[in-house]
Amino acid sequence: SDPELVERARAAKAALGDSVFVLGHHYQRDEVIRFADVTGDSFKLAQQAAARPEAPYIVFCGVHFMAESADILTAGHQQVILPDLAAGCSMADMATFDQVEECWEVLEDAGIADDVVPVTYMNSSADIKAFVGRHGGVVCTSSNAKRALDWAYAKGSKVLFLPDQHLGRNTAVLEMGFSLDDCVVYSPHRPEGGLSGQQLRDARMILWRGHCSVHGRFSLDSVEDVRRRVPGVNVLVHPECKHEVVTNADQIGSTEYIIKTIENAPAGSSWAVGTELNLVRRLANAHPDKNVMFLDKTVCFCSTMNRIDLPHLVWSLEALARGEVVNRIEVDADTAHYARVALDQMLALP
Ligand code: 13P
Ligand code: SF4
Repeated sequence: SDPELVERARAAKAALGDSVFVLGHHYQRDEVIRFADVTGDSFKLAQQAAARPEAPYIVFCGVHFMAESADILTAGHQQVILPDLAAGCSMADMATFDQVEECWEVLEDAGIADDVVPVTYMNSSADIKAFVGRHGGVVCTSSNAKRALDWAYAKGSKVLFLPDQHLGRNTAVLEMGFSLDDCVVYSPHRPEGGLSGQQLRDARMILWRGHCSVHGRFSLDSVEDVRRRVPGVNVLVHPECKHEVVTNADQIGSTEYIIKTIENAPAGSSWAVGTELNLVRRLANAHPDKNVMFLDKTVCFCSTMNRIDLPHLVWSLEALARGEVVNRIEVDADTAHYARVALDQMLALP
């Protein structure tokens, strides 16, 4: 990266001192993550958001739903800045508030809404989290999905899982002993979600038809191909991958889990990692004694995570250093209140 920009980022951060706290998700570019005070998966970053109350500014190097969650968890005491407002998440965009309200009406018409506990993946907008909070549900991330589902099934006999069908299905089937037939997929673009009332009444897990475009690129072929090419390879994937990928992998976990697994792996071992490419490349560079490779042959960055680049980071830090807050992410009070209910429920999971 451009040495002049690196120096400007360093100087702006030094000038801001303790007044700024920079959080970086593991999928961020190297040129950005080197300036993070804390790096993490989405769960760790949610926990960290409120951990430095003395810093009035949080610069969130991640995507929009993460910055919203940070704003909610800091209760407006800190100002959260997203260096590029175009850093969204295609998965989060797959569930809109109106669609989820409509889905709930379909569940009411099927006579099951009282039995359903809504659970939303962190990768959703604040108004979806607020919907879930208003209806007695919980937020989860890829590192606590099983605990969130255990909690939900202790409250109700069915779960509506938003918006990632893969995380919901993989957790239900691989960690909770559900069968694939216990799960149905609700399609927001089809009348009644494309499901009959009977299908909804028979289901235990109602999955929203959403997915991650990055993890969706890995296929069973990618797994079989790497096993042919690299004898003894361990396949390690994120639970946002498709069910057939996850069931044929050796290990599954959140980004934080993936990092720890590679750190603890013996020298000389081979790992094909199915997650975003910035993270896989960083792991390969950090562990030259291990054979760490990307699971697929084609490259697979998260284009919205990559929107946060060094020029945007420098721009937002230099603005703060001049006393100007740019790209603040602020959730309205009512939405924040109910979203916080669902987020706090996640943070309180046993
Ligand atoms: P985690 O950081 O929770 O593993 O999630 C990955 C992801 O896709 C974030 O957008
Ligand atoms: Fe969204 Fe997937 Fe990118 Fe994560 S990796 S921010 S889920 S598009």
